[in-house]
Amino acid sequence: MARITASVYTSHVPAIGAAMDLGKSTEPYWQPLFAGYDFSKQWIKENTPDVIFLVFNDHATAFSLDMIPTFAIGTADQYTPADEGFGRRPVPTVYGHPELAAHIAQSVIQDDFDLTIVNKMEVDHGLTVPLSLMFGERDPVKGGWPCKVIPFAVNVVQYPVPSGQRCFNLGKAIRKAIESFDEDLNVQIWGTGGMSHQLQGARAGLINKEFDNAFLDQLIADPAAAAKIPHIDYVREAGSEGIELVMWLIARGAMADQKLETATAQHAPTVKHRFYHVPASNTAVGHLILENN
Ligand code: DHB
Ligand code: FE
Repeated sequence: MARITASVYTSHVPAIGAAMDLGKSTEPYWQPLFAGYDFSKQWIKENTPDVIFLVFNDHATAFSLDMIPTFAIGTADQYTPADEGFGRRPVPTVYGHPELAAHIAQSVIQDDFDLTIVNKMEVDHGLTVPLSLMFGERDPVKGGWPCKVIPFAVNVVQYPVPSGQRCFNLGKAIRKAIESFDEDLNVQIWGTGGMSHQLQGARAGLINKEFDNAFLDQLIADPAAAAKIPHIDYVREAGSEGIELVMWLIARGAMADQKLETATAQHAPTVKHRFYHVPASNTAVGHLILENN
C-alpha cells in the first residue's frame, strides 16, 4: 500500500528561484535564507520519497482569470516549468504519477470534493521554488528531480477561495485515497505558499512575525483549531497574500494523527525541522518538516 511518511511546508517566493538561477544564493542578503534549508536538503537526500503530492497555487499562469478551478489535480505524466515573464526557469521538467493521481481523483471525488482534472499544465514558481529549495540546483537536462510529483493547485488568488476547514478536511480525504492505492509507494505531502505577505495596496510589504509563529505552533500542535481561522483573520493579520497559508492545512490534515477521532500530543508527528526568516523579497519565509510516527 502507498503511505504518507512526512509532510513539508515552505514558502514559494519567486525571488528565491531567481536568486538560485542567477547564482546569488551565497550573497549576504540570501545566505541566511538558504542556510535554513541546509538541514532539509540533507534530510530529503536520506528520505527521498517515490512521489510528492505537492499542494501549491497557480498565480494566473496556467489558469488565467478566464477559468479558475478551486481544486485541480494534475494527472499528466509531465509538466513544463512556465515562462512567467522572464523566460522559463532553468529547472528540470516535472514528472507526474498519472496512476496514483487518477486514483486520488477517483477516491476524493467520491468523497464529495469536486476536483478539476488537469491533463496538461505548465507549473509556475508556486511549484518549482519549493522543489528547488528542498532539492537544490538540478541540471535541467542531466539532473532531473529525484522523484515524481503530483501537482495539486488550489485557488487562493481570486475570491471566493476555499476555507481553511475545507482544506483541512480535504487533506484527510487525500490521506485516505493515498492509503488505498495498491502499490508500495513512499509519498510525502507538501503544503506551500505563505507566510505573511501583502504585495498590493496601502499595506504592501506587511509582515507579521507574531501571527506567523503562532500559526506554526498551532499547525503543529492543534491543526483542527488552525483550520477554524476565518479568511478575514488571514487577510488582516497575514496580509492579502497570507491567505496562501490555507494550503498548509491540506498537508497537515493528511498526517496520520488526524485520522484518529481524538488526536493527542502523544500521536503528533515529529518536528524534524522548523525555520522562519524575514525578509525574502516581500515575504516572511516559514518552513517545517513533520514526520509521521
Ligand atoms: C512574492 C511572494 C509570492 O508568494 C508571490 O507569489 C509573488 C511574489 C514576493 O514576496 O515578492
Ligand atoms: Fe504566491
